Amino acid sequence: DKVVLAYSGGLDTSVAVKWIDETYGLDVIAYTCDLGQGQDIEAIREKALRTGAVEAIAEDVRNLFVDYFAFPSLMAGALYEGKYPLATALGRPLIAQRMIQVARDHGAVAVAHGCTGKGNDQVRFDVTFQTLAPDLKIIAPVREWKWTRTEELKYAADHGIEVEATKEKIFSTDQNLWGRSIEAGILEDPWVEPPPETFQWSVDPKDAPDEPEVVELTFEQGRPVALNGVETDGAPLIEKLNQIAGKHGVGRIDHIENRLVGIKSREIYEAPAAQVLHEAHREIEFLTLSKEALRFKTQVSQTYADLIYNGLWFSALHQDLMAFVASNQQYVSGVARIKLFKGMASIVGRKSEHSLYRHELATYEEGDQYDATAALGFITIHGLGQKTQAQHQMLKGPG
Ligand code: ARG
Ligand code: SIN
Repeated sequence: DKVVLAYSGGLDTSVAVKWIDETYGLDVIAYTCDLGQGQDIEAIREKALRTGAVEAIAEDVRNLFVDYFAFPSLMAGALYEGKYPLATALGRPLIAQRMIQVARDHGAVAVAHGCTGKGNDQVRFDVTFQTLAPDLKIIAPVREWKWTRTEELKYAADHGIEVEATKEKIFSTDQNLWGRSIEAGILEDPWVEPPPETFQWSVDPKDAPDEPEVVELTFEQGRPVALNGVETDGAPLIEKLNQIAGKHGVGRIDHIENRLVGIKSREIYEAPAAQVLHEAHREIEFLTLSKEALRFKTQVSQTYADLIYNGLWFSALHQDLMAFVASNQQYVSGVARIKLFKGMASIVGRKSEHSLYRHELATYEEGDQYDATAALGFITIHGLGQKTQAQHQMLKGPG
């Protein structure tokens, strides 16, 4: 019988290939995908075969990831706890879904992943597997073997598994187009500033260029469609923006995060493009959504972010929220100008054909069409309740 293993090429999943074979007697099909993490997936595929996988599959899913996961989360305004753009959390349901497809194509009876028992990722994988393929057995070697790192290295040595003698493992990292997640090691002390080697996509803001750079981002119905006026597909747009914004030190996030499993964890993220796109997108919303829609959207964004973080991508509630967002984004089209400078991404201009900012209403200059006499009656009614209360209940003012 066969099992499909989510294979990263790192130590844990390489050891897992052997361990699954020895423990469960299953043939391992290694599954690796390109989510824009900047790795050579063909080399990883070959390593899987050298490590004992009977078959190894590597596929580029960057477009799927952007079109169906990253951009929809952007349109939803999904930032977990108002900070984390959810790169890792968005990748998991896609990887799990593709693994199930591979399992079906090859008649596998099980799926496996290299997550620990302490994190969110195990939940996201397992919940997706249980939802979409309840018949498949789930194997989580790292959660099951309960080894120390020394024991794991000994197992690797005893079984002739390649261990790259890199400085890998000073942190635990995960990355894709939408961002890098970095945790563990020295970062476990929330008082300690992340050392320079934490970051790979962005420069230290103090070393960023002394001249600011303005980028123009064009949105159509909430989706980014052009960078600096040039129509660009999602994946290359994000890649380019990661470079431009990273060069200016933009996109570093330091967060004490509430994991689903009840622990607070210190997480560092590096997400230059995601951060700039969220900022730009929100600004187009300020221009085009009504006050009421904006306030309601804030609640939707929070629920949406929690749902993604908590591994409930394939839920009915998500379908419902998606329908709301699609409708809500109908007029969220326009261009935002964002200035990048020494770690900051600031809005400096915006325009939209559907703008609700009306100069003829807002202006103090010539062309004013606003009827100030109507304000008088409005203020009388607006303040009536408070005025009545002050007269009959002798409310005390501050002090
Ligand atoms: N805390 C983040 C999340 O739950 C990042 C997880 C990073 N995963 C990893 N395997 N290093 O989404
Ligand atoms: C893990 O524990 O496997 C990674 C971190 C996480 O899932 O949150």
